[in-house]
Parts: sequence; structure tokens; C-alpha cells
Amino acid sequence: MKIVITGALGHIGSRLIRVLPNMFPAAEITLLDNLMTQRYCSIFNLPTNGNYRFEEADILTADLATIFSGAEVVIHLAALTDAAGSFEKRGEVEQINFVGTEGVARACIHAGCAMFFPSTTSVYGSQKNVVDETCSQDELKPQSPYAESKLKAERMLAKLGETDDLRFVTCRFGTIIGTSIGMRFHTAINKFCWQAVMGKPITVWQTALHQYRPYLDLSDAVSAIKFIIKNRLYDKKIYNVVTTNATVNDIVETIKTVIPSVSITHIDTKIMNQLSYHVRNDRFKDLGFEFQGDMVKGIKDTIQLLNGVQHDKQAN
Ligand SMILES: NC(=O)c1ccc[n+]([C@@H]2O[C@H](COP(=O)([O-])OP(=O)(O)OC[C@H]3O[C@@H](n4cnc5c(N)ncnc54)[C@H](O)[C@@H]3O)[C@@H](O)[C@H]2O)c1
Repeated sequence: MKIVITGALGHIGSRLIRVLPNMFPAAEITLLDNLMTQRYCSIFNLPTNGNYRFEEADILTADLATIFSGAEVVIHLAALTDAAGSFEKRGEVEQINFVGTEGVARACIHAGCAMFFPSTTSVYGSQKNVVDETCSQDELKPQSPYAESKLKAERMLAKLGETDDLRFVTCRFGTIIGTSIGMRFHTAINKFCWQAVMGKPITVWQTALHQYRPYLDLSDAVSAIKFIIKNRLYDKKIYNVVTTNATVNDIVETIKTVIPSVSITHIDTKIMNQLSYHVRNDRFKDLGFEFQGDMVKGIKDTIQLLNGVQHDKQAN
């Protein structure tokens, strides 16, 4: 079996590529990344039982059909992923996240392989307290160019599923919690842990402290991808993949158990809104998938990773 992972050196990819050989021992694992984010460390000390091949390539320019040739599935993780920063680079986000995803999908069709697409729960903008995949179109209200590009890509894949019989699955991932060698710190929980460890106030959007948002433990994200590959779940559907729903206040209280002196400061951002909602994950659970992640552990692991840094500056 051959598995291709685009964006393999990123936060999710760098964990995923380390566990795939255990479940698929004979697999040829092709790692494709353009090194835009310089995460060379993600391929340091890869497990010796893995059969890896690295392609330094850009999804917008590479001969993808040739790279995908013979693959069973392409796990398409490559994207520009900073939602808050995406307002300043709308064109680039559209190119990589939408045009690039269409190129990956068409190459999958050409090579006869299936495709896994991670969308985001940020496509929701529901006025209701609880939302799921069956929500009406007017509850899909992406609040950033990043989320807009993901929703547009979802719709494009659905169309290619009909017109060209693209075999794919879309998972709307919650914001990732948990550590990996290629992790980054621009999403909510990781950024808060970083700020707290560095003795800085946690920067919370004006409206956000008590709003519920969906989170996904990285171990659940990786298990979900393994589950999809194992069960060949390329049914052209959308699944919410979410470990828990929590407020920023819940996160801050958890950080406080490790760093009691942590403080918060409120900031403005173009993304914030008045919405507060839980995202349901029943459709994915009904397939037999068990979520086992733990937000508290994910937060503590992230702080622990930085434990060489003095935590509690105000206590000194
Ligand atoms: N991390 C999250 O909280 C989260 C939540 C929901 C969905 N997702 C989605 O999951 C996927 C992976 O997320 P992540 O957190 O690992 O992202 P990441 O930013 O850590 O990694 C993305 C990787 O893609 C590579 N890349 C970017 N543009 C490329 C291009 N044109 N060609 C080849 N490689 C390119 C980067 O070098 C990087 O290694 C993304 O599609 C993201 O939108 C992530």
C-alpha cells in the first residue's frame, strides 16, 4: 500500500507520520511538503520501521498525478492554516487552500486514488447552541478567509464526487490540542499555553471568554485518519471530528492549575463574533469511532513541553 501525505511536516502531519507504520507496516509513505514553514525537525528521527520517501514539492506546481501514482489514498494536510492572519493574505489562502486542493483532487482522480480532506469546524456560524453536519446552509458562516477557503473546497470536492466520481471524505476538525514535533503555536490553546509559560497575559478576544468552541485532541485526529484509511471510508460525506467543546475560560482555568499566576488581557480581532455553539460528533461516532482524547492532558502536555522555561514569573 502507498499513502501520500501533503503538508506532512506540519503540526498534524508530524505526529501522523510517526504512527502510520505501526498500523500499516508494509506501507510506502510519501511525505510531500514545500518546507514553507521550515519544519525540518518534523522528519528528524523517524521510526525505523517506516518506509518513507520525502518529496520537497509545492502542491500548486508539482506533477501531483505522477507523485500520487499507485497510491491508495492522499491525506491532504497542506494548507495555509493561520485563520486570524488570513485576512492579510486572502489571495494566497485562496490559492493554496482552494486552488491547491482542487489540483490535489484532480490528481487523485487521474491517479485513481482516494482523498482525505481536513476541513474545519470554523465553517460553522450557527445562532443555535448545538450544530451538526445536517445544519442548513445559512448556519455555515465562515468568519475568516481561511474558513471561507475550506468551505469552498468542501463544496468543490462534493461536486467532483458527483461529476468525476472522486472518492473522498471530508472531516471538519476542531482546533487541535496536543503536542507534536512539528507543532505550532498560533491556534487558541497552544498560543495560550505559550503565553502563560512565557509569563505573558493570555490574549483573549473581547467576546470569547465564555463562548463554546470545538476542540480536537491530536491523538483523536490521528486515530480518525487511521480509522478512515483502515475502513476505506471514502463515502463522499462530511464528518465533524471533535473531542470536546469548551470555553476559553475552561482553558484558562486548566492552565491556572499548572501556572496559578496567569492573567488575561482582552484584544480585538476581525474573527470575533457573538456566537457560542457546541459541535456534535455523533455521525462519526456512529461509525464505531471512539474519541479518547483529553483536553486537560493536552494542555498539561503542552505546558510540560516548555518546562525548561521559567513558568511562574510573578511568583519570583
Ligand atoms: N491545527 C488545527 O487546529 C486544525 C484544525 C482544523 C483543520 N486543520 C487542517 O488540517 C490540516 C493540517 O493542519 P496543521 O495544523 O498540521 O497545519 P500546519 O500549518 O502545521 O502544516 C501545514 C503544512 O503544509 C505545508 N504547506 C503549506 N503550503 C503548501 C504547499 N503549497 N505545498 C506543499 N506543502 C505546503 C507547510 O509547509 C506545513 O508543513 C490543514 O489543512 C488545516 O487546515 C487544522
